[in-house]
This record gives sequence, structure tokens and C-alpha cells, in this order.
Amino acid sequence: MSLVNENFSKLKAGYLFPEISKRVSAYKAANPDADVIRLGIGDVTRPLTPSIIKALHQGVDEMAKDETFKGYGPEQGYQFLREAIVKNDFHSRNVDINIDEVFVSDGSKCDTGNIQEIFSLKAKIAVTDPVYPVYVDTNVMAGRTGKADKNGRYKNLVYLPSVAENGFSPSLPEEHVDIIYICSPNNPTGTVLNKSELEKWVKYALNNKAIILFDAAYEAFITDSSLPHSIYEIKGAKECAIEFRSFSKTAGFTGLRCAYTVVPEKLMGIGKDGNKVSLNKLWNRRHCTKFNGVSYPVQKATEAVYSEEGKKEIRGLVDFYMENAGIIRNTLEKLGWKVFGGVNAPYIWFQTPGKISSWNFFDKLLNEVQIVGTPGSGFGYCGETYFRLSSFGDRKNILKAVDRFNSKYGK
Ligand code: MLT
Repeated sequence: MSLVNENFSKLKAGYLFPEISKRVSAYKAANPDADVIRLGIGDVTRPLTPSIIKALHQGVDEMAKDETFKGYGPEQGYQFLREAIVKNDFHSRNVDINIDEVFVSDGSKCDTGNIQEIFSLKAKIAVTDPVYPVYVDTNVMAGRTGKADKNGRYKNLVYLPSVAENGFSPSLPEEHVDIIYICSPNNPTGTVLNKSELEKWVKYALNNKAIILFDAAYEAFITDSSLPHSIYEIKGAKECAIEFRSFSKTAGFTGLRCAYTVVPEKLMGIGKDGNKVSLNKLWNRRHCTKFNGVSYPVQKATEAVYSEEGKKEIRGLVDFYMENAGIIRNTLEKLGWKVFGGVNAPYIWFQTPGKISSWNFFDKLLNEVQIVGTPGSGFGYCGETYFRLSSFGDRKNILKAVDRFNSKYGK
């Protein structure tokens, strides 16, 4: 018998979203006629847009001809896509990123999960609470933590509360940490760190030789023009931060799969001998060893996101989901509930009425109005008595959902 990785036994029973699906399936089995509206996992519902479909078809057709067929591509992504990325996502915001700093991949979940491999097992990790569970679980699997306590908090991890009381802007850690995961716009709270808050983190990281892992998967949903879209808009960030971007929510790619990670060439870690080590080179080594690149047709489709037509279409998608967010947010506010997010992010985060437990509220919503959301406690101890709704549903269902909220919980 092979010995298994015992770190997995420290994990909570199931990953959050499969656990929700399991409960919803059980409910559906018991209530086959129930019209269940799913606003739990942030999965898009609008189809891919015409420019993207056209480029995808073109990519597939090229694969069908001798002259244009492609085998393995560059692991880091085709140059045409990396050029489009740096020009449109960074140079357009006066951020100087070059294509050798961009690594195209099949998703930010994988990248934010895998990035910890290039750091020592002794690295001290800080996460916000609540937090996207991937950051925590992958560090548990790697063995950087002890067991979870009764609140589900793992020993050796530093938790930084991100709660209404501190305006969802976590305080700096009280002890030294080496790695800090920051997600802005935030999943799950739907709140965004402004420029001065990000400056505080960059300053901390530079002073403490720490690295910020900055998850910007939801940056396209920012509507307030004063808010930063990239951590590299902050001076000094190229010496202390890695940034993750995704096309999943922005362009409806949850089923197509494409994302990228920026690891600046200036970014250094430290070896055992005290010498500086390029994190760009380490990530490149890891990427080339474990990944053979995103398929050519998908990279062609992704390039189309940056065409003039593509940009308009993507703006339309983002606006559509943000209108959904506004509809949900306004409804819950009118019910008198304490609501956050949904303005610069596609998630609506609210305190459960009467502060009942998140999972009890999950069951209540499912049973009373057949709406599925995500229990806040699934994102961490500080998420208890909170609940998250996703605005990625189709409009018919969003309107149906708000009707149900009004008729069941309205005065
Ligand atoms: C979420 O609902 O939090 C996201 O869809 C999860 C993900 O992007 O992996």
C-alpha cells in the first residue's frame, strides 16, 4: 500500500462548491418539481460573444490544415496573446509589464493554487478572513499548516479579518509573514481596496521582504474609476507582487479556460544561502515542467477579447452582470438587510437577517424560496452569519429571485 499525503486529512470534508451542489442535489431529489435558482458558485450564464466564437472557429480551422496546423505551443502562451495582454491590460494604464513577465494558463484557480510551490514550506502565509478557499486549502495540502481548530482556522496560518468593522480593509499582520494573499475586487465580500490601502500593503511587503499574491480575477467589474485594477499601479509593486488575471468571469470563459499570471522580472525571493532568486525564473521552470500551454484555438479566442469589437462585447457582458448585481443589491437593501459589494464586483455579501448561521440561512433560502447562495462561513470564520449571492445568473432568474425575496421577506 502506498502511503498517502497526510496533509489532505487536515482538510475540511469537501471543497465548498461541491458541498453546496451535493446539498442542492439532495433537495432536488426530494422535491423534483422545485424551480431552484442557483446564485451560489460564480459561474457565468451568458454565451461567448460573436468575436470570440469567430476567432475560436478560425483557430479550429487552422488546426485542420497542413499549412497552419500547430502542435505544442510555447508553454508561456503565444506571443500574439501576450502582446495583446501587456498592451491592453497594462500599457493602457501606464504600467510597464513586458511579455516575458506574462504566463498564460488555463485558470486563476490553478495558478493561485499552484504558485505556493515556488516558496519554501517554511514560508509563513497570511490570508484574509473570509477568503477564497483555494489559497488556504492548497497550503494545507502542501503541509504549511497544522490542524484546523474548532473554528476551522489552521495552525501556522495568519488570518487577517476583513469585516464590516474595518471597512473590509484588513490590518497589517502583527507578526512577520512571508506571503500575503490579497483578492481585490474581493471574493467573497465584493469590496475593493483603494489605492492608499494597496500602498499600505506594498510598503509592508517591501519593508518585510514579503511577497503579495494579488488575485485580480474580478478587476473588469470595477466601475469606480479611482480604484486600481492592477497592483502594479502602485509604485514598488513590481518588487513585491505577483498578479493573477482571469478571462473566466470577464469574458465568460469558465467553460473555455484561459487566464494569466504576471511574475515581474525584478521580483526576487531568497535562497537558503541568502542569495536572491528570480521568482520569474522559478515560475517559468515550474510552468514548463508541469504545463504544456493553453490550446491554440482558445488563445486565438482570448486574443479576440482585445479586438475593438471584442472589447465592446465584453463591456456588454460585464455591464449585464453588474445590472444584475444592482437589482439584487437594491432588493436586499430595501428589505432592510445589511448589504456589501455588488458595486465594483459581481458578488453581493450580506449579513443574514437575525444573524442566523450561514448554513442555516442556506437551508432556509433553499427551502423557503428555492434560491441557492453561498454560506459566508464556507469562506472562513469571519464569514459566519454572512451570505454571498452571485450576480452571474440570467436576467429572468435574477428577477424571479428578487420577486421571491420580496414576497417572502418583504414587509
Ligand atoms: C466562486 O464562486 O467563488 C468562484 O466561481 C470560484 C472560482 O472562480 O473558482
